[in-house]
Amino acid sequence: MSTLKAVRGTRDLLPPEISVWQRIEETARRVFARYNFGEIRTPVFEDTSLFSRSVGEETDIVSKEMYTWEDRARAQSEKPQSLTLRPENTAGVVRAYIEHKLGETGQLQKLYYIGPQFRRERPQKGRYRQFSQIGAEVIGPPSAGSESPLRDAEVLEMLATLLDELGITGWTLEINSVGSSADRARYNETLRTALVPLAPKMCVDCQRRAVTNPLRVLDCKVPEDQPIIDALPKIVDSLDEASKAHFAAVTAALDAAKVPYSRNHRLVRGLDYYTRTTFEFTHGGLGAQNALLGGGRYDGLSEAIGGPKAPGIGFAMGEDRLVLTLQTLEASRPEKVDAYIAPLGESLNAPALALARELRRAGLTIELGDGSFRLKKSFDAADKTARRIVILGEDELQSGILTVKDFSSGIQTKVSRAALAAHLAESK
Ligand code: HAM
Repeated sequence: MSTLKAVRGTRDLLPPEISVWQRIEETARRVFARYNFGEIRTPVFEDTSLFSRSVGEETDIVSKEMYTWEDRARAQSEKPQSLTLRPENTAGVVRAYIEHKLGETGQLQKLYYIGPQFRRERPQKGRYRQFSQIGAEVIGPPSAGSESPLRDAEVLEMLATLLDELGITGWTLEINSVGSSADRARYNETLRTALVPLAPKMCVDCQRRAVTNPLRVLDCKVPEDQPIIDALPKIVDSLDEASKAHFAAVTAALDAAKVPYSRNHRLVRGLDYYTRTTFEFTHGGLGAQNALLGGGRYDGLSEAIGGPKAPGIGFAMGEDRLVLTLQTLEASRPEKVDAYIAPLGESLNAPALALARELRRAGLTIELGDGSFRLKKSFDAADKTARRIVILGEDELQSGILTVKDFSSGIQTKVSRAALAAHLAESK
């Protein structure tokens, strides 16, 4: 029988790497709390039409990357339903906002999420079919200030703080404005006209996009097409005065907060719900899939899926990519536990468990050996996992004086049982 493996594009996350994931999530929760965000958990699958109406039929995500199936009716009263594993979480959050009438509170809703997303992409480094996003959304009625450029700047400043606290150095923030949906429609037509004589010289994808959705030409990565794309009309020239003023206010607030950024005129993002501000944080250490996170404003999304007017802005970070970046930055050193307890002989196993319990209750991380091991084997195991070894033989048990060896200094000391926890905690 062939052995079963995790499906292509999915992976198991195991110790010790999982501790990097846990640290990222703890840091994110801590930073989000400081900005008064609360957590939301939405279902992993939703009605397919939620994504086609929000992310957009024409996007790569909806047209070719979703895991969609026809959910059979289980009773006569039920109708079959097309369901989809969520490819992103903004649509689910906005659906929940509408369903629970959160707009009626009159307050801004500041919600964050951490969880798996699913896209049928070609797997490569930094790109998986199941990946995890840490994201947040700020959404509410216009009377709560949800359209204010201050919200955009605050979200970007929070992200800069979060990346700094995670220890991710060397990130770049690129921002742009895609204007209102009318601005975008106008720009799409400008591009369509400009592309008529140019498209035949471009890649096949661009030839198709030039007709179906010219804006997507700006996402093309084919090197030969780049000079053509760079010379195309820019979206900034299609923006109305209100969108220009909004963008200017966002950048003024970023300047005041000293958050560094650069403007990228081609940043239109691969999801259709964006209006006005769009942004991405990238990192050079990631290679081809260099987007650590992306986001933007989506002022018309709620109405597009049948809700009230509820402008919003948010982002999602690729947690897999944060982990990759941290690993390249911190040439991963395995974390060692505080101590390894080595019982000398099987009769010392039970007393060793009692000692481990005492130390763990004092807040220390302890690895418990086994009395059937020879001393050499205990030392080898301890050296791999712990900073120190504590030897528990018959003499130590009777006298209450234990032998502790520190692996980094090589020093061996005698410590009374009563002082042991404090001794191990000292050089934590
Ligand atoms: P997105 O740009 O599609 O935006 O994804 C956000 C981030 O998720 C990307 O920058 C990347 O780090 C990560 N990501 C996307 N696809 C993959 C993949 N296949 N493997 C690993 N990581 C991946 C959104 O999803 C929007 N919902 C963001 C947003 C929130 N906009 C407003 N609010």
